[in-house]
Amino acid sequence: MDVIIDTSIFLGKFLYYLLESLAYKIIPRRRKDVAGEIVLITGAGSGLGRLLSIHFASYGAILVLWDINQEGNMETRRLAQEKGAVKVFAYQCDCSNRQEVYRVAAQVRKEVGDVTILINNAGIVTGKLFLDIPDHMVEKTFLVNAFSHFWTCKAFLPAMIEANHGHLVCVSSIAGRIGINGLTDYSASKFAAFGLAESLFLELNMVKKSEVKTTIICPYFIKTGMFEGCTTKYPFLLPILEQEYVAKKIFNAILEEQVYVVIPRFLWFTLVLKQIISSKMVVALGEYLGVDSCMASVRGE
Ligand SMILES: NC(=O)c1ccc[n+]([C@@H]2O[C@H](COP(=O)([O-])OP(=O)(O)OC[C@H]3O[C@@H](n4cnc5c(N)ncnc54)[C@H](O)[C@@H]3O)[C@@H](O)[C@H]2O)c1
Repeated sequence: MDVIIDTSIFLGKFLYYLLESLAYKIIPRRRKDVAGEIVLITGAGSGLGRLLSIHFASYGAILVLWDINQEGNMETRRLAQEKGAVKVFAYQCDCSNRQEVYRVAAQVRKEVGDVTILINNAGIVTGKLFLDIPDHMVEKTFLVNAFSHFWTCKAFLPAMIEANHGHLVCVSSIAGRIGINGLTDYSASKFAAFGLAESLFLELNMVKKSEVKTTIICPYFIKTGMFEGCTTKYPFLLPILEQEYVAKKIFNAILEEQVYVVIPRFLWFTLVLKQIISSKMVVALGEYLGVDSCMASVRGE
């Protein structure tokens, strides 16, 4: 009897959520108001972190900017203030260092308050073939791109759960869904970040029954400088993305509380495709698209 009731409830929910997701293809989603929210962005000193800071600034959020690069971070603070942000707090923080993350997090709680939107964005890339990557850079890549997410979430999630209000944003990568030659350490660290964010999403929803939201961002290559030298064989098919375009997509996805965000959206197709075609077909497709040589001129760290 329980099985019949359980299955009926599940099917009812499944159908309802299917119709809801179809409706959202036509009706725009409700966008949340971020005015007054305390938004912490790691890696705010350049690229996507800087542009996201500017978007949140123009929507009245209180900004907490973290970066290892103090000069870049102060410039972001200046730009955010120029966009109208009244409260912008910039902290130098090496996110790869657990003790430092916890120390600066405590300082933020004391000086600003409880963070309500946490954007784990700081990242690095070595951009070398597997056997050329120094061991310490493999470790560093994991520390910045994945481990730091554990420390920041541990520092700020308890208050979000307590208030039943908050949002965790993980900037992973398309390389966190598909392995890419020349990016073994980066890709593995981004898979780790994705795995943490997705598991935590399920934990918050199914175990904690919490209203804390999750957004996981997986963009293709962007012209921010991180992948300077990266090439694309068919720019009309798969161009390197403009950073303003990606930052706007991420900002909108956060406001709409989307969970999975692949940029550009049509790359979802490749994620499905790689599960169903043969490995030889995957290699042939990669070579056709120029993936075999796209990383050859990347400088990295
Ligand atoms: N650029 C791309 O093609 C691309 C593609 C997919 C995903 N991403 C991801 O987007 C995020 C933002 O990257 P971006 O393209 O803006 O690059 P970026 O190099 O402009 O920004 C990265 C920022 O992280 C900071 N940072 C590095 N190490 C740090 C540390 N230990 N502690 C604190 N801050 C540190 C840097 O100082 C820099 O300001 C990264 O997580 C990156 O992996 C980038």
